[in-house]
Amino acid sequence: MKIFIDTANIDEIKEAIKIGIIDGVTTNPTLISKEERPAEDLLKEICSLVSGPVSAEVIGLDCQTMVKEAKILSKIAKNIVIKIPLVKEGLKAVKILSSEGIKTNVTLCFSPNQALLAAKVGADYISPFIGRLDDIGQEGMELVRQIKTIYSNYGFKTQIIVASVRNPLHVLEAARIGADIATVPFAVIEQLLKHPLTDIGIQRFLEDWKKVPKR
Ligand code: E4P
Repeated sequence: MKIFIDTANIDEIKEAIKIGIIDGVTTNPTLISKEERPAEDLLKEICSLVSGPVSAEVIGLDCQTMVKEAKILSKIAKNIVIKIPLVKEGLKAVKILSSEGIKTNVTLCFSPNQALLAAKVGADYISPFIGRLDDIGQEGMELVRQIKTIYSNYGFKTQIIVASVRNPLHVLEAARIGADIATVPFAVIEQLLKHPLTDIGIQRFLEDWKKVPKR
C-alpha cells in the first residue's frame, strides 16, 4: 500500500520524506489555510520536495470554473493532481479533465455509488472519507470494502485513497482490505512507528550494554 501524507505543512513533509515512507501528498483547503501562505507558493514548494502525486483542490462549484482552476493548478508542477468534490458539476469536470490527460482525485466520497460514478467518468483516484463516516456512527471502512469490490468487479483503474484517516487502525484496515493508498496525517504516521515494547527493548539493551566489560 502506498502512503501519502495528508498535510500542507512543509516541516512535516520534509520529516516524512526523511523517514522514507512517503509516496505522495494530499492537501485540501482546510490544510492549506493552516499554513498562512499563498496556496500557489506552498504547492510549488511541496511539489519540489515530493516526486509522487500532490493533490490540490479546486474551490469552484460549477464545471466551467472547476476546469479553469484545474488548468491553472496543473501548471504549478507535473505531479499536481486535481482534487474535485463528488458533486454533479465535479463529475462533469472530471470527464473533461481526464479526456485532456489531467489527473484527478475525486474527493468527499461517502457512498459506493458515488465511487462507481467517479470511476465511470475516468477519475484517477477516489477518496472515501473514513473518519468522517465513523464520526456519524457509520463504519467508514465498510465503504472502502464496497468500493474495492465494485472496482474489481469491473476492472476500473481508479485508485482508492483511504482518506480522513484518524488512527493506526484505519491504516491497518486499509492495508488488510488492499486499498491502493492511505493518506495519513503526520501524527498518525508517528503512531504507526511506535510500539511501547520497542522502546522498553531499546532501554533494556542499553542498560545491559553498560554491563559489558570495556577494554
Ligand atoms: C483527504 O484527502 C482529506 O484531505 C483529509 O483526509 C480529510 O481528513 P479530515 O476528515 O480529518 O479532515
